[in-house]
Amino acid sequence: MQKYLSVYRESIENKEQFWSKAAEAIDWSKPWNKVLNQSNSPFNLWFEGGRLNTCYNALDRHVKNGLGETTALIYDSPVTNTKKSYTYSKLTNKVSVLAGTLKDLGIEKGDRVIIYMPMIPEAIMSMLACARIGAIHSVVFGGFAAKELATRIDDAQPKLIISASCGIEISKVIEYKPLLDKAIEIAEHKPQNCLILQRPQARAEMMSERDLDWTETISNSTETACVDVEATDPLYILYTSGTTGKPKGVVRDNGGHAVALKWSMENIYNIKPGEVFWAASDVGWVVGHSYICYGPLLNGSTTLVYEGKPIGTPDAGAFWRVISEHKVKSMFTAPTAFRAIRKQDQDGEFIKKYDLSHFESLFLAGERCDPDTLQWAEEKLQVPVIDHWWQTETGWAIAANCLGIEKLPVKSGSPTVAVPGYSVDFLDGKGNPVESGQMGNIVVKLPLPPGTLKTLWNDDERLIKSYFSTFDGYYLTGDAGYRDEDGYIYVMGRTDDVINVAGHRLSTGAMEEVLSSHPAVAECAVIGAKCELKGQLPIGLIVTKDKVDISNEQLVSELIALVRKDIGPVAAFKNACVVKRLPKTRSGKILRSTIRSIADGENYNMPATIDDPLILDEISVDLQIIGYPTDS
Ligand code: COA
Ligand code: AMP
Repeated sequence: MQKYLSVYRESIENKEQFWSKAAEAIDWSKPWNKVLNQSNSPFNLWFEGGRLNTCYNALDRHVKNGLGETTALIYDSPVTNTKKSYTYSKLTNKVSVLAGTLKDLGIEKGDRVIIYMPMIPEAIMSMLACARIGAIHSVVFGGFAAKELATRIDDAQPKLIISASCGIEISKVIEYKPLLDKAIEIAEHKPQNCLILQRPQARAEMMSERDLDWTETISNSTETACVDVEATDPLYILYTSGTTGKPKGVVRDNGGHAVALKWSMENIYNIKPGEVFWAASDVGWVVGHSYICYGPLLNGSTTLVYEGKPIGTPDAGAFWRVISEHKVKSMFTAPTAFRAIRKQDQDGEFIKKYDLSHFESLFLAGERCDPDTLQWAEEKLQVPVIDHWWQTETGWAIAANCLGIEKLPVKSGSPTVAVPGYSVDFLDGKGNPVESGQMGNIVVKLPLPPGTLKTLWNDDERLIKSYFSTFDGYYLTGDAGYRDEDGYIYVMGRTDDVINVAGHRLSTGAMEEVLSSHPAVAECAVIGAKCELKGQLPIGLIVTKDKVDISNEQLVSELIALVRKDIGPVAAFKNACVVKRLPKTRSGKILRSTIRSIADGENYNMPATIDDPLILDEISVDLQIIGYPTDS
């Protein structure tokens, strides 16, 4: 551990020196005045006074430095049978012309642009084109429904929305444009324009005043240069689930972000310029932002945009085909993808069909990685399988096995150790450190390293309340876990109402808000129950109002449809039951964690404050009827 420990100590004890050295790997048009300004903590500023352009660092400078003919981006789409690749020169040109279009449409530095797109190169180009002119992008995941998109439109107030006519989910064509139209109709804020990429699988109907055809509009534009921004200016807003229905708009800066991601590519993932890195995620999530778009490109590496699934496009060998064909050195995905593959190919027969000799490591994140899945992947792939832990808020890993520094022994169930820059502690409810092996709230001592959240869009107050008010001087991750005697970190689950479904972060509070909006519902609780494939699945427990004129079956099916309509298919809300009453404390708080223990078939202590213990027996019977606990 010596090498890791010496880098780690340096990052904590001499943080300014450490990060200013890392910042030398980025091109600045003006150097910073101060590496770290903590005068208004927790609103700490990295590289204050420095000026740069993130798109320049991700594209133009590589062309300037002789990497013009290196492949920047590979697009592999089994769902449309398409493969394409873009060199750094070609991608720079495409992004530069698109940035020209944005300028022609009146988009200026600081304006917001929402990007609602499937996994196609144009999504990455749109992000980079915004960065090029200093506009702030906000990418919304395609699996969210119109109402969720509308909430984000109202919060971010974009001048422009960039979208495509459709996405393709295995063989289903999902039309995006009607969802976009509906979202704009619901939202109070109206964008000036929508730039729509027509895909051949479905043609979008355009509204003449507002909507512009991507191809036609761009054909009238010319290349535009990068605009300098302050290191502390926002690069993007990415909405993520909190405990309520209102998502949190995590704001990322330009300077700290570029420095941290470039550093992480070499030191965590051990990827060098020209090497192929593949994050099989979606641009709508933070993994897509950091490791499909910015990280690999800031590093001069090759990134892969994969429009497909781990299974079904066409089979459980899809990942191995991509790795083999495009000479992927390292890939990153969520454990759920591996559970899906393993279910269909327990013996790893598909793996044997491909030459994976250049494949060196697999990184997993997005949800807790069960030891079984990790060991299966290790055994079948014969490469290091690295679980690492991070969040939308941090933008890059808090805990990992930093392969570029020193590979530490893997302990399954642990994302290994704190990444340089993160001073991770474990505190009890009163803020006292817990002993090793004891569960505690996982916190990060301030200051957070560069690249982590700057604030929440338009909501400094919520930032403080959510992350910095529980323990003075610490960032609250919302996760609970422990550290073992060797300093290995174990992340066991959330301490709030956020759940993780197939690596997608969702709010049970948001689902409860939707269920409560049904006229027959008096009260409800949504919990995340264990799921062998997706990690967790939401289950709704519903109490109806007196004398409602609807059968329980009908109500459940209406509620399932309502969550799909209001939040989107990604919520995977497919299980609910009507119960007589919900278990509560004497002060009226719903005992969600006790319900979750019952659904998971776990032992639980009878809560001392429970109002009526008999309710738990009733709930247990109701859950059994809908199949909980499951057999697994
Ligand atoms: N646009 C529109 N709809 C989408 C979508 C998108 N971008 N992404 C997902 N959906 C839909 C799916 O079609 C599905 O709809 P359905 O209820 O009609 O079947 C629903 O949302 C749930 O999707 P998903 O959670 O992906 O489940 P799945 O059963 O289709 O696939 C896995 C299961 C495990 C194969 C899949 O979740 C997967 O590949 N996960 C990888 C993890 C990942 O990318 N995590 C991101 C963070 S690293
Ligand atoms: P997101 O913001 O969508 O990236 O989700 C972040 C949350 O996912 C974390 O707070 C954790 O609860 C969970 N998570 C991510 N990676 C891991 C991991 N490697 N182990 C355990 N939980 C994880």
